[in-house]
Amino acid sequence: MPRGSFISLEGGEGAGKSTQIRLLAAWLRDLGHEVIETREPGGSPAAERIRETLLGLPESDGTWDAHTECLLLNAARRQHVVDIIKPALGRGASVITDRFSDSTMAYQGYAGSVGRPAVEALDHWAMDGFKPDLTLMLDIEPEAGAARAGERARAAGQTVLDVFERRSITFHQTVLAAFRDIAAREPERCVVIDASATQELVAAAIQNAVKARLEVK
Ligand code: TMP
Repeated sequence: MPRGSFISLEGGEGAGKSTQIRLLAAWLRDLGHEVIETREPGGSPAAERIRETLLGLPESDGTWDAHTECLLLNAARRQHVVDIIKPALGRGASVITDRFSDSTMAYQGYAGSVGRPAVEALDHWAMDGFKPDLTLMLDIEPEAGAARAGERARAAGQTVLDVFERRSITFHQTVLAAFRDIAAREPERCVVIDASATQELVAAAIQNAVKARLEVK
Protein backbone atom coordinates (compact mmCIF):
# COMPACT_ATOMS: atom_id res chain seq x y z
CA MET A 1 0.00 0.00 0.00
CA PRO A 2 1.37 3.42 -0.82
CA ARG A 3 2.49 5.32 2.28
CA GLY A 4 -0.18 7.60 3.61
CA SER A 5 -3.36 6.04 2.23
CA PHE A 6 -6.70 7.46 3.31
CA ILE A 7 -9.54 4.94 3.73
CA SER A 8 -13.13 5.69 4.77
CA LEU A 9 -15.78 3.21 5.92
CA GLU A 10 -19.37 4.16 5.29
CA GLY A 11 -22.67 2.49 6.06
CA GLY A 12 -25.88 2.74 8.02
CA GLU A 13 -26.46 2.13 11.70
CA GLY A 14 -25.35 -1.35 12.83
CA ALA A 15 -23.31 -2.07 9.70
CA GLY A 16 -20.33 -3.04 11.87
CA LYS A 17 -18.02 -0.19 10.85
CA SER A 18 -16.21 0.19 14.16
CA THR A 19 -15.46 -3.54 14.49
CA GLN A 20 -14.25 -3.70 10.90
CA ILE A 21 -12.06 -0.63 11.33
CA ARG A 22 -10.40 -2.27 14.33
CA LEU A 23 -9.79 -5.48 12.35
CA LEU A 24 -8.53 -3.65 9.25
CA ALA A 25 -6.18 -1.46 11.28
CA ALA A 26 -4.77 -4.52 13.11
CA TRP A 27 -4.20 -6.33 9.81
CA LEU A 28 -2.41 -3.34 8.27
CA ARG A 29 -0.26 -2.86 11.38
CA ASP A 30 0.76 -6.53 11.19
CA LEU A 31 1.92 -5.76 7.65
CA GLY A 32 4.09 -2.95 9.01
CA HIS A 33 1.95 0.13 8.31
CA GLU A 34 1.41 2.98 10.75
CA VAL A 35 -2.36 3.39 11.01
CA ILE A 36 -4.52 6.08 12.61
CA GLU A 37 -8.13 5.10 13.42
CA THR A 38 -10.57 7.96 13.60
CA ARG A 39 -14.27 8.80 13.22
CA GLU A 40 -16.81 11.43 12.22
CA PRO A 41 -18.45 13.55 13.28
CA GLY A 42 -15.44 14.23 15.51
CA GLY A 43 -11.96 12.76 15.36
CA SER A 44 -10.04 15.73 16.78
CA PRO A 45 -10.60 17.50 20.11
CA ALA A 46 -12.30 20.50 18.51
CA ALA A 47 -14.35 18.35 16.13
CA GLU A 48 -15.46 16.09 19.02
CA ARG A 49 -16.90 19.20 20.70
CA ILE A 50 -18.98 19.82 17.59
CA ARG A 51 -20.05 16.12 17.69
CA GLU A 52 -21.27 16.53 21.29
CA THR A 53 -23.25 19.59 20.25
CA LEU A 54 -24.73 17.82 17.23
CA LEU A 55 -25.66 14.51 18.85
CA GLY A 56 -26.50 15.82 22.29
CA LEU A 57 -29.53 17.91 21.35
CA PRO A 58 -32.22 16.89 23.90
CA GLU A 59 -35.45 15.51 22.41
CA SER A 60 -37.34 18.38 24.08
CA ASP A 61 -35.38 20.88 21.93
CA GLY A 62 -36.72 19.35 18.69
CA THR A 63 -34.27 18.81 15.84
CA TRP A 64 -31.54 20.82 14.18
CA ASP A 65 -32.39 23.05 11.29
CA ALA A 66 -31.14 20.95 8.35
CA HIS A 67 -28.76 23.60 7.04
CA THR A 68 -27.32 24.29 10.50
CA GLU A 69 -26.71 20.56 10.95
CA CYS A 70 -24.99 20.32 7.57
CA LEU A 71 -22.78 23.32 8.33
CA LEU A 72 -21.78 21.87 11.71
CA LEU A 73 -20.90 18.53 10.08
CA ASN A 74 -18.72 20.30 7.52
CA ALA A 75 -17.12 22.47 10.18
CA ALA A 76 -16.24 19.36 12.19
CA ARG A 77 -14.87 17.62 9.07
CA ARG A 78 -12.70 20.55 8.09
CA GLN A 79 -11.19 20.71 11.59
CA HIS A 80 -10.65 16.92 11.62
CA VAL A 81 -8.84 17.04 8.27
CA VAL A 82 -6.65 19.98 9.25
CA ASP A 83 -5.79 18.75 12.77
CA ILE A 84 -5.49 14.98 12.28
CA ILE A 85 -5.92 13.52 8.80
CA LYS A 86 -3.60 15.63 6.63
CA PRO A 87 -0.75 15.73 9.20
CA ALA A 88 -0.92 11.92 9.56
CA LEU A 89 -0.94 11.34 5.79
CA GLY A 90 1.88 13.87 5.45
CA ARG A 91 4.17 11.88 7.72
CA GLY A 92 3.40 8.65 5.85
CA ALA A 93 0.81 7.12 8.19
CA SER A 94 -2.42 5.70 6.80
CA VAL A 95 -5.76 6.91 8.13
CA ILE A 96 -8.97 4.90 8.46
CA THR A 97 -12.05 6.94 9.25
CA ASP A 98 -15.46 5.79 10.43
CA ARG A 99 -17.55 8.00 8.07
CA PHE A 100 -16.52 10.95 5.91
CA SER A 101 -18.11 13.20 3.24
CA ASP A 102 -20.27 10.40 1.80
CA SER A 103 -22.20 10.29 5.10
CA THR A 104 -23.17 13.92 4.71
CA MET A 105 -24.15 13.29 1.09
CA ALA A 106 -26.25 10.25 2.09
CA TYR A 107 -27.86 11.57 5.30
CA GLN A 108 -28.20 15.29 4.60
CA GLY A 109 -28.11 15.26 0.78
CA TYR A 110 -30.16 12.24 -0.33
CA ALA A 111 -32.22 11.45 2.80
CA GLY A 112 -32.35 14.92 4.38
CA SER A 113 -33.74 18.15 3.04
CA VAL A 114 -30.48 19.92 2.16
CA GLY A 115 -30.29 18.22 -1.24
CA ARG A 116 -27.39 16.89 -3.22
CA PRO A 117 -26.23 20.03 -5.06
CA ALA A 118 -25.90 22.04 -1.83
CA VAL A 119 -24.07 19.22 -0.02
CA GLU A 120 -21.72 18.82 -2.98
CA ALA A 121 -20.99 22.56 -3.16
CA LEU A 122 -20.38 22.82 0.58
CA ASP A 123 -18.11 19.76 0.55
CA HIS A 124 -16.16 21.20 -2.34
CA TRP A 125 -15.63 24.45 -0.44
CA ALA A 126 -14.80 22.79 2.90
CA MET A 127 -12.59 20.00 1.50
CA ASP A 128 -11.07 21.67 -1.53
CA GLY A 129 -11.51 18.43 -3.50
CA PHE A 130 -9.89 16.27 -0.79
CA LYS A 131 -11.36 12.72 -0.86
CA PRO A 132 -10.49 9.26 0.46
CA ASP A 133 -8.26 7.04 -1.71
CA LEU A 134 -10.63 4.16 -0.99
CA THR A 135 -14.16 4.07 0.43
CA LEU A 136 -15.62 0.82 1.72
CA MET A 137 -19.43 0.90 1.75
CA LEU A 138 -20.68 -1.57 4.36
CA ASP A 139 -24.01 -2.59 2.90
CA ILE A 140 -26.76 -3.88 5.20
CA GLU A 141 -30.57 -3.63 5.16
CA PRO A 142 -31.73 -1.07 7.76
CA GLU A 143 -33.84 -3.61 9.71
CA ALA A 144 -30.85 -5.91 10.20
CA GLY A 145 -28.61 -2.95 11.04
CA ALA A 146 -31.12 -1.57 13.54
CA ALA A 147 -31.34 -4.95 15.28
CA ARG A 148 -27.54 -5.05 15.63
CA ALA A 149 -27.36 -1.42 16.78
CA GLY A 150 -30.15 -2.09 19.31
CA GLU A 151 -28.26 -5.06 20.79
CA ARG A 152 -25.12 -2.95 21.06
CA ALA A 153 -26.99 -0.08 22.75
CA ARG A 154 -28.66 -2.45 25.25
CA ALA A 155 -25.30 -4.07 26.05
CA ALA A 156 -23.86 -0.61 26.71
CA GLY A 157 -26.84 0.26 28.93
CA GLN A 158 -27.83 3.11 26.58
CA THR A 159 -31.52 4.00 26.84
CA VAL A 160 -31.75 7.49 25.29
CA LEU A 161 -31.62 7.76 21.49
CA ASP A 162 -29.45 10.51 20.03
CA VAL A 163 -30.77 12.97 17.50
CA PHE A 164 -29.70 10.76 14.57
CA GLU A 165 -30.99 7.48 16.02
CA ARG A 166 -34.51 8.94 16.26
CA ARG A 167 -34.95 8.83 12.48
CA SER A 168 -37.45 6.55 10.69
CA ILE A 169 -36.81 3.29 8.85
CA THR A 170 -37.73 5.01 5.55
CA PHE A 171 -34.97 7.53 6.19
CA HIS A 172 -32.47 4.72 6.72
CA GLN A 173 -33.66 2.96 3.54
CA THR A 174 -32.94 6.15 1.61
CA VAL A 175 -29.48 6.31 3.22
CA LEU A 176 -28.73 2.76 2.07
CA ALA A 177 -29.88 3.56 -1.48
CA ALA A 178 -27.73 6.70 -1.36
CA PHE A 179 -24.55 4.82 -0.44
CA ARG A 180 -25.23 2.36 -3.27
CA ASP A 181 -25.76 5.21 -5.72
CA ILE A 182 -22.60 7.04 -4.64
CA ALA A 183 -20.62 3.80 -5.08
CA ALA A 184 -22.09 3.32 -8.57
CA ARG A 185 -21.18 6.88 -9.54
CA GLU A 186 -17.59 6.63 -8.27
CA PRO A 187 -16.53 3.00 -8.83
CA GLU A 188 -12.83 3.88 -8.90
CA ARG A 189 -13.00 5.11 -5.29
CA CYS A 190 -15.78 2.97 -3.77
CA VAL A 191 -16.25 -0.75 -3.08
CA VAL A 192 -19.55 -2.13 -1.76
CA ILE A 193 -19.08 -4.83 0.89
CA ASP A 194 -21.90 -7.18 1.97
CA ALA A 195 -22.02 -6.40 5.69
CA SER A 196 -24.75 -8.95 6.50
CA ALA A 197 -22.15 -11.76 6.42
CA THR A 198 -20.16 -12.90 9.48
CA GLN A 199 -17.50 -10.60 10.95
CA GLU A 200 -14.77 -12.87 9.56
CA LEU A 201 -16.19 -12.89 6.02
CA VAL A 202 -16.68 -9.11 6.04
CA ALA A 203 -13.10 -8.63 7.28
CA ALA A 204 -11.79 -10.89 4.51
CA ALA A 205 -13.78 -9.02 1.84
CA ILE A 206 -12.37 -5.74 3.14
CA GLN A 207 -8.80 -7.07 3.06
CA ASN A 208 -9.33 -8.26 -0.51
CA ALA A 209 -10.62 -4.83 -1.55
CA VAL A 210 -7.68 -3.08 0.11
CA LYS A 211 -5.21 -5.49 -1.53
CA ALA A 212 -6.79 -4.97 -4.95
CA ARG A 213 -7.27 -1.20 -4.78
CA LEU A 214 -4.26 -0.06 -2.76
CA GLU A 215 -1.83 -2.79 -3.79
CA VAL A 216 -1.13 -4.00 -0.27
CA LYS A 217 1.43 -6.81 -0.32
P1 TMP B 1 -22.23 6.83 14.04
O1 TMP B 1 -23.52 6.12 14.32
O2 TMP B 1 -21.43 6.19 12.98
O3 TMP B 1 -21.43 7.17 15.27
O4 TMP B 1 -22.63 8.25 13.38
C1 TMP B 1 -23.33 9.17 14.09
C2 TMP B 1 -24.56 9.62 13.37
O5 TMP B 1 -24.24 10.78 12.61
C3 TMP B 1 -25.16 8.62 12.39
O6 TMP B 1 -26.54 8.53 12.66
C4 TMP B 1 -24.96 9.24 11.05
C5 TMP B 1 -24.87 10.71 11.36
N1 TMP B 1 -24.07 11.49 10.40
C6 TMP B 1 -24.75 12.31 9.51
O7 TMP B 1 -25.96 12.39 9.50
N2 TMP B 1 -24.00 13.02 8.63
C7 TMP B 1 -22.62 12.99 8.61
O8 TMP B 1 -21.99 13.66 7.82
C8 TMP B 1 -21.94 12.13 9.57
C9 TMP B 1 -20.46 12.06 9.58
C10 TMP B 1 -22.73 11.40 10.43
